[in-house]
Amino acid sequence: MQYVKFGRHGLDVSRLGFGTMRLPTVKDGEKTVIDRPQAIGMIRRGIDGGITYVDTAYMYHDGESEIVTGLALRDGYREKVQLTTKMPPWYCNEEADMNRLLDEQLKKLDVAYLDNYLLHALNRDTFRKLQSFHYKDFLRQAIRDGRIRRAGFSFHDDYDAFMTILNDWDEWDLCQIQFNYLDDREQATADGLREAGKRGLAVVIMEPLRGGALANPPGNVKDMIAAYEKQRSAVEWAFAYVADHPEVSTILSGMSTPEQLEDNLRIFDALTAGGLTEEERAFCGELKQAYLSRMPVKCTGCAYCQPCPQDVHIPNIFRPYDQSKMFDSSGRFQWEYGELVKKGFDASKCVQCGSCESVCPQHISIIDWLQTIDREYRDMVK
Ligand SMILES: NC(=O)c1ccc[n+]([C@@H]2O[C@H](COP(=O)([O-])OP(=O)(O)OC[C@H]3O[C@@H](n4cnc5c(N)ncnc54)[C@H](OP(=O)(O)O)[C@@H]3O)[C@@H](O)[C@H]2O)c1
Repeated sequence: MQYVKFGRHGLDVSRLGFGTMRLPTVKDGEKTVIDRPQAIGMIRRGIDGGITYVDTAYMYHDGESEIVTGLALRDGYREKVQLTTKMPPWYCNEEADMNRLLDEQLKKLDVAYLDNYLLHALNRDTFRKLQSFHYKDFLRQAIRDGRIRRAGFSFHDDYDAFMTILNDWDEWDLCQIQFNYLDDREQATADGLREAGKRGLAVVIMEPLRGGALANPPGNVKDMIAAYEKQRSAVEWAFAYVADHPEVSTILSGMSTPEQLEDNLRIFDALTAGGLTEEERAFCGELKQAYLSRMPVKCTGCAYCQPCPQDVHIPNIFRPYDQSKMFDSSGRFQWEYGELVKKGFDASKCVQCGSCESVCPQHISIIDWLQTIDREYRDMVK
């Protein structure tokens, strides 16, 4: 295992961190009932294998993840790791809720303190709410009274929102952002990553495999990976890309099976500190383009076409449709389209007035695409 600096804190942390959002469950698709013996065994095996960072949250597995993580960290494992959990802003209705939630989480985890406490999944709106609840006073007090050691936030919004949060407090110790070779211009972006690093925050990465999607590439991407001179699996390329950024500290993976854990321990043992060559970096860019080339509509979600006079939710049809083609997986889109049909926001409502096409900055043939998608999916969602 490689160990890297944790921002300005002068600590060493394992390059691979254990994310506990996707622990093995007793029944497939039922996220509440974690397979406790297997999950505890995996977390402990990860720590024995060199992992020194464990990430959980109030919300994961409907509240069960913190309990199972706490159980896994008994018997001397707690002292071997940095433990992080996150406060759910959506359960904060008044200032006092922040203290109440932190105390409840310490109890669930059965620990005396947290190494890192994050405000969970901040976006513009939730951040504004926590500002009104004086989040800085709360976090400073929690550090003073020893319940937490460092304070940070995890993030899901755009670059401007990220910079607003970063600029609001110069005492942030860490942040957690979504980053992988497909998302280098999405969410906080590579620029946000660099800014946070420059300010000495430890930057923890989530979704390095895009939640697993990059581990199972579609045909054209698979072929490129197989044909490349240096042999790496799809998972190895995705991790190597993230680790190549000097501002990145620990990289979380939500491992769901013992095999994935062993594979990731092996990969992170072999990851070299030197990073990728220029040619390999360019190859990651080519992989990204290969994914993007699979998007048939290429809607950017700008929503200039909205509101549609017939209430057709055009970007909410095109964006997930593009994603389904990109990853060669239609199941989720089928469900999403079914929901739009139920609400009457689907493509069949289009009367071809063309008001959308006249304002689309991407010059998408919206009417044709709405008809194509409706033809492809209408029978499936009935
Ligand atoms: N704060 C937030 O808002 C937030 C949001 C997301 C995540 N997180 C945290 O960040 C952690 C990491 O994110 P993530 O779980 O999305 O990470 P990820 O590594 O992008 O995705 C994890 C998934 O990738 C697949 N996978 C992992 N290793 C593999 C391997 N060696 N071979 C094949 N497939 C593999 C598995 O999916 P399958 O088993 O389905 O194939 C696994 O469930 C989470 O666990 C959580 O702790 C936080």
